Parts: sequence; structure tokens; C-alpha cells
Amino acid sequence: MKIGMQSLLTMTFWAFWSLTASLAHAGDVAAGRAQSIPCLACHGAEGISDHYLWPNIAGQSERYLVKQMRDFRDGARDDPWMSPMARNLSDRETDDLAAYFSSLPAAAGEGAAQPKKAKTCVACHNAQMTAANSLWPKLAGQHKRYLVKQLLDYRAGRRADPTMTPLAKPLSDQDVEELAAYFAGQ
Ligand code: HEC
Ligand code: HEC
Repeated sequence: MKIGMQSLLTMTFWAFWSLTASLAHAGDVAAGRAQSIPCLACHGAEGISDHYLWPNIAGQSERYLVKQMRDFRDGARDDPWMSPMARNLSDRETDDLAAYFSSLPAAAGEGAAQPKKAKTCVACHNAQMTAANSLWPKLAGQHKRYLVKQLLDYRAGRRADPTMTPLAKPLSDQDVEELAAYFAGQ
């Protein structure tokens, strides 16, 4: 009886421990910076890229960056440039790289009028909500062509996500252009 109670306590402790451990990505910024050299050619010296299809990754949430790198690595997301870069990353390396790029200052756009359809989107993609849910990416200041490509990828099923796919499905080409311009301008 006594042993049963003890092992129950131990199990509870380990369950709690592994839960907190799996939620917290203890990425190491310095280790991430040391490994970031191959990334800079495309994502820019400070995580702000100057190519319209290579996303800015500076200041993005750590958890979102980890998820995307692992999606590319494990094949849930596919891109001829990015997938080979992610293929050999260990979990530890994705955590460290994410900690580093997340620590850099994010890009900002020059401002743009909000289209009507953006109301649905800002429920998740505004600064407050992206801070509250670290799996909802910041879109502000991102390259417009990159955002267009992602929305078309979700719409066509080339990039799959249970939240974004149904939201992108009903968008027209014009909606996609207007929404991308709005978020890029923020
Ligand atoms: C040869 C160019 C290239 C290199 C080098 C590269 N990337 Fe990428 N990366 C891309 C492209 C292109 C995309 C967007 C792919 C798409 O359209 O889905 C991307 C997407 C990403 C994303 C997802 C961003 C988002 O907003 O969803 C992350 C995170 C990322 N890269 C991290 C890295 C890291 C870390 C490295 C270094 C280990 C790296 N990349 C090296 C081209 C590159
Ligand atoms: C319920 C929350 C939610 C709403 C509402 C929402 N999104 Fe998203 N969005 C997400 C999540 C979660 C992801 C990341 C999915 C993944 O991991 O691929 C995402 C990803 C994206 C991306 C890719 C960003 C990148 O860096 O690659 C774009 C672009 C985007 N959303 C645009 C929109 C637009 C436009 C709308 C409105 C029509 C919208 N979203 C509505 C949650 C939401």
C-alpha cells in the first residue's frame, strides 16, 4: 500500500516533469547563433531577408520556428530550398536555432489599410494574440510575395494545417493579394 502510494507520487512527478519539459524549449541563443551561418545566405544576416520568397524569421516566436523547422525536416512542409537545410537538424539544433532567431528584432512594414476580410485573420495574427499563442505566427512586416505563396499553398493543400487550411480555402486570388499586402505593410 505504502509502495503503491510512493510509485503513484513518482509517476505524477514524472508526468508533470515531462509535461513542463516538453512545453518549454530550452533553446540556447549562443549555440543557435554559432549554427546559424548556413541560414544567413537566404534569411539575412539578422534574420531579415532581402529576397521576396525567403521569409524574415527574426523575432518570430520560438515555438513556431521550432515547429516549422521540424515540419520541413519530417516532410510535413516541403520546399526545394528549405527542406534540404532542415533535413539533418536534431531536435536540440532546432531549439537552439529558434532561440537565436527569435531573440533578434522583428521586421516592420510601412502601414497599409485593413481589408474587410482581415477581421477573421487578426483574431489570431495580431500582436496580442501571437503573444498569447506561440504557434500563431507574426505576419507583420513579412514579404508580401512570401505571404501570397503561403496562402496559395494552404489553399491548394501543398502546406497543410488544421487551422489555416479551412481558412485559406474560400479566399479568392484577389483576397490573397489584399490580405498579403495588408499584413506585409503592418
Ligand atoms: C537556400 C535558401 C535557404 C537556406 C540556406 C535556409 N532557408 Fe529557411 N527557408 C527558405 C525558404 C525559401 C523558406 C520558405 C519556404 C516556403 O515557401 O514554404 C524558408 C522557411 C524557413 C522557416 C519557416 C518560416 C515561416 O515563417 O514559416 C524557418 C523557421 C527557416 N526557414 C529557418 C531556417 C534555418 C534555421 C536555416 C539554417 C539552418 C535556414 N532556414 C536555411 C530558404 C532557406
Ligand atoms: C484561429 C487562428 C488563426 C486564424 C483565424 C488565422 N490564422 Fe493564419 N495561421 C494560424 C496558424 C496556427 C498558422 C501556422 C500553421 C502552420 O504551422 O503551418 C498560421 C499561418 C499563417 C500564414 C503563414 C505564415 C508563415 O510565416 O509562413 C499566413 C500567411 C497566414 N496564417 C495568414 C492568415 C490569413 C490571411 C488569415 C485570415 C484569412 C488567417 N491566417 C487566419 C492561425 C490562424
